[in-house]
Amino acid sequence: MRDLSTLPKVELHLHLEGTLEPETVLELARRNKVELPYADLEDLRGRYEFTDLQSFLDLIYANLTVLQTEEDFSDLVTAYVARAAAGGVRHVEAFFDPQPHVARGIPLQRVLDGLASGIASAERDHGTTVELIACFHRDRSEEEALAMLAALEEAGAPIIGIGLDSAEVGNPPAKFQRVYARAGELGLHRVAHAGEEGGAASVTEALDLLHIERVDHGIQAIDDPALMDRLARAGTPLTMCPLSNVRLRCVDTLADHPLPAFLEAGVLVTVNSDDPAYFGGYADTNYEALRATFGFSDEVMARLARNSVTASFLPEGRKTELLSEIDAWIAT
Ligand code: ADE
Ligand code: ZN
Repeated sequence: MRDLSTLPKVELHLHLEGTLEPETVLELARRNKVELPYADLEDLRGRYEFTDLQSFLDLIYANLTVLQTEEDFSDLVTAYVARAAAGGVRHVEAFFDPQPHVARGIPLQRVLDGLASGIASAERDHGTTVELIACFHRDRSEEEALAMLAALEEAGAPIIGIGLDSAEVGNPPAKFQRVYARAGELGLHRVAHAGEEGGAASVTEALDLLHIERVDHGIQAIDDPALMDRLARAGTPLTMCPLSNVRLRCVDTLADHPLPAFLEAGVLVTVNSDDPAYFGGYADTNYEALRATFGFSDEVMARLARNSVTASFLPEGRKTELLSEIDAWIAT
C-alpha cells in the first residue's frame, strides 16, 4: 500500500474558516482581545460534538470572530496550506464566507488583502496553488448576497467563482437564482452545497436553476436513480467530504457512506475535507479513512485523485501536469 500523503491531489471543498484549529482560536482570541465563552482549550475541544449541520455552524460562526486583522486572514491561509501540502495537496479551490466577516464590522478589503497575502506566501513556500471561491450564506437574503457580489466585483476580488453554504434545509437553491445569473454574467464559476442535508431534489434544483458546474456534497443524490444517471452522463463532479458527513450525522458511520455507490455508477466523485479543524482530518486523512473502511486499492485511490484534477477549474496544461504526477505515484 502506497503512502496517501504523497498522492498528488486537489482539494475542492475546503472552507478556510473551517481550518481554524482550537489552539489557534484561543491564541487569536488572546492576541485580539476577543471574548469567547470557553473556559480553556479542553472546554472548547469538548464542544466539537455535533448533532447536525446547525450545531456545527453555531460553533464555527462563534469561532471565526477571532479573525480580526489582515495578518489573521493571511496566517489562516499559510497554516492551512502548510498542513495540506504535507498531505499531498497540490492545488486548492478554497471557500471563504465574506458575509459574516463584513456583518461584524471587518472591512471586505481587509479580508481580501489578508487572504491574498497568505496565498502568495503559501504558494512561494509550498508550491501549492490556491484559488478563492466566495460562498454566500443561504440562510441570509438574496438581496444581501447580490450586494456582496457587487461589493466583491467593485473591490476587484481575486475570486474564480461563487458558492452557497450554511443551513440547507428551508433555504432552497431557487432563492438564489438572480445571484447565480449575475455570477454567470461576470464569468465566474458556479458551485453550491446541495444534497448534504437537503435531499436529492435540492441537487436537481441547483443544477436546473443555478446552473452549477460542481455539486458540493451531493450525497443525497443516491436516492434518485434518474439524477444519478444524469450526473454520470454529464460528468458533473461531486465534492464529497466523508469525515464531515459522519461528524454531522448525514451518514451513521463511514461504512454507510454512499461514495462507493457513486463510483460504481460512474459519477465523477472527489474526496475533500470541508472543515478539517472541526471534522477530524485534512484531505489525506479523508483518503486514508476511505481506504481503511472500504479496502480501496491504490488504483482506486489514484482514480479519486485524478477525479479531483479533472473536476478542478485549472487550465488544461496544469491538469495534464498533475495527472502525470499521479501516474508517476502509481508507477513507483
Ligand atoms: N459551512 C462550512 N461547512 C459547511 C457545510 N459542510 N455545509 C454547509 N455550510 C458549511
Ligand atoms: Zn462545505
